[in-house]
Amino acid sequence: MTEKPATGYSPLQISLHWAIALLVLFQLLFGESMTTVVDAAEEGTSVSATDQFLANSHYWVGLSILALVALRIVVRLWQGAPPAASEGPSWMEVAAKISHWLFYALLVAVPVTGLLAIYVSDSFGDIHALGKPAFIVLIAIHALAALFHQFWIKDGTLRRMLVPSR
Ligand code: HEM
Ligand code: HEM
Repeated sequence: MTEKPATGYSPLQISLHWAIALLVLFQLLFGESMTTVVDAAEEGTSVSATDQFLANSHYWVGLSILALVALRIVVRLWQGAPPAASEGPSWMEVAAKISHWLFYALLVAVPVTGLLAIYVSDSFGDIHALGKPAFIVLIAIHALAALFHQFWIKDGTLRRMLVPSR
């Protein structure tokens, strides 16, 4: 599918961006309850009702992320994305593109390795857990870059992920 020229992000793209960001934040904050429950099942010990609830939530929130990301990738290929909000050094545009596609790769790979950890082999759990530092580093760089563009370069980059313009 070819990318169409876009003037901004659509309401659907913006809703998906922020919904997925919130759900990922939930997974990063409370994911350890899933580890606690998995470890307890192996050792035959019991867990608190809170850990059990958070582990169930981890499963369903994770599957929701996977479904929303599948939709988001289809919408992205169909509606495209606007060109950089301001002209900067070419390495910056390349870095932005790489980080965005890395996000999409992580958003698919992390839930899939979570599913493999439950249904195929425990060893995928270790790979899955690496998603935590990977997401944290990428989100920190991404959020700082967005704030730098909005408030230092003042090119409206953050605004266009808040206000639809198509
Ligand atoms: C983007 C989505 C997801 C994120 C960000 C995420 C994040 C995390 C985090 C931070 C942990 C704790 C790692 C630790 O203790 O250091 C974890 C554990 C775990 N998650 Fe996820 N998760 C996601 C989706 C899923 C899905 C869809 C499933 C399965 C349906 C799943 C299954 C598990 C399992 C089984 C563990 C325990 C791994 C182990 O210790 O062996 N996760 N996840
Ligand atoms: C888990 C958290 C997040 C994820 C997974 C995520 C993911 C993404 C992805 C994949 C894109 C590229 C959209 C595309 O062109 O296809 C994007 C764009 C964007 N994100 Fe995030 N994001 C997250 C959090 C944030 C936060 C916290 C901010 C603000 C501080 C932010 C601000 C933006 C902005 C302004 C854009 C548009 C960039 C542009 O138009 O060049 N994101 N995000």
